[in-house]
Amino acid sequence: MEKGILEIKEHTHKKYRILGKYLGACKTFNKKYRNFAYVDTHAGSGKVLFEGDFEDGSPLIARAINPSFPCYVIEINEDRYKILNDSVTDLPNITAIHGDCNEKIPEVLRKIPGWKFTLCFVDPDSLIDEYTGCHELSWKTIEQISQGPKTEILLNFPLMPIVRNIGYVLSGQKSSKTQKFKDNLVEFFGTDKWIEIGTNRKKLLDFYLSERLRGYEFKGAILIRTGNAPLYYLVFGSHHKVGAKIMRDVMRKEWRGGQQFLANFNDVYPLTYFVFD
Ligand SMILES: C[S@@+](CC[C@H](N)C(=O)[O-])C[C@H]1O[C@@H](n2cnc3c(N)ncnc32)[C@H](O)[C@@H]1O
Repeated sequence: MEKGILEIKEHTHKKYRILGKYLGACKTFNKKYRNFAYVDTHAGSGKVLFEGDFEDGSPLIARAINPSFPCYVIEINEDRYKILNDSVTDLPNITAIHGDCNEKIPEVLRKIPGWKFTLCFVDPDSLIDEYTGCHELSWKTIEQISQGPKTEILLNFPLMPIVRNIGYVLSGQKSSKTQKFKDNLVEFFGTDKWIEIGTNRKKLLDFYLSERLRGYEFKGAILIRTGNAPLYYLVFGSHHKVGAKIMRDVMRKEWRGGQQFLANFNDVYPLTYFVFD
């Protein structure tokens, strides 16, 4: 196996389908207006392995949908970056960047004209990258993205590591890990108010949506599980009603096999807050 190649699990396909369907809708608008750009802050290796076979990871999903809009893809892991870079070298619209997305994001956003709709796919695994020891995602990165008037965010909210870290901190153990975990959570949330919230997943999500995605009028999320066990939320934020409508529809169909809703759908899942938990 190639060193650095990312291996995925079955549940990752749901994330890929949601990203792919949304990008498919963006392609339709881009064809007409040429007004779209894509940023992948945690790009991985481009091609990925699933049960021994190669598949497209997020940057290549974007490429397959529409090779014409500009894509900026960032990866911190050197081996992974090499595979990523090789898989996009013949594609002039894709710029692969090696480094920490929290440092690179300002220069990437500066390259994209403010009138372009820019989907930022932010896909960390955890709070700390296991190979480099870097923070996977700083709250400042989300702040910078959300200030762009035409940006949208699709974010992997790494619920399980968050809950584990908060649980450890709140257990009151006095060890060197406690301060480290606290610091990692503060870097992710931008505050220590999570101490008051505890480990309730829905309250943590609500807190993040209201605090970190406060710049976006339209917000939503879907809980991704493996079997019955919750893994992470895929969180969406947008300044645009049309984008929110499309993403709500995509998430609705992916949620537990697109089951029927008995209550009035718009009342329970308004465009300003649609959470499929
Ligand atoms: C969940 S994987 C991404 C998978 C990819 N988005 C896909 O769907 O195919 C997370 C990736 O983020 C990278 N990473 C972790 N911290 C990072 C950082 N601060 N900046 C850029 N990349 C980072 C990891 O090396 C890993 O490849």
